[in-house]
Amino acid sequence: MATERTLSIIKPDAVAKNAIGEIISRFEKAGLKVIAAKMLQLSEEQAGGFYAEHKERPFFKDLVGFMTSGPVVVQVLEGDDAIAKNRDLMGATNPKEAAPGTIRADFAETIDANAVHGSDSPASAEREVAYFFNSDEICPR
Ligand code: PPS
Repeated sequence: MATERTLSIIKPDAVAKNAIGEIISRFEKAGLKVIAAKMLQLSEEQAGGFYAEHKERPFFKDLVGFMTSGPVVVQVLEGDDAIAKNRDLMGATNPKEAAPGTIRADFAETIDANAVHGSDSPASAEREVAYFFNSDEICPR
């Protein structure tokens, strides 16, 4: 198994529910380490740049509006198979399809406000980690 890094975002709906600790606890209990973290109020430019690959999708404007509606917590998670492990913990994009016990099943209400983001591939993880963190903000341990 490869040690990987992945970018996780606790989205505004989950921050508003005071679920930051419970979500991070799930990462840690699954063996993932938080090696960088910060709370941010994203601007439209930051959110739009992050989701640039979806800019032609019908939901893009709403997605940017949602991601700028309140603070988010961005983290770098490190561990064995961190990218797939995080996505297993998150559950399906649509919370109505998310398996019981996953973060989205437990904390998300709709596909528009689905509690968490996780990188979906090594290439995405590399881009997304660099989007939010300088190398001196990452503390491997
Ligand atoms: S897709 O269709 O596979 O490209 O979609 P996906 O990569 O799973 O999700 C794209 C991100 O947009 C968010 N979002 C929506 N997706 C689909 N439909 C609607 N209506 C929608 N609204 C928002 C979705 O949560 C994904 O965000 P992240 O942060 O990547 O999970």
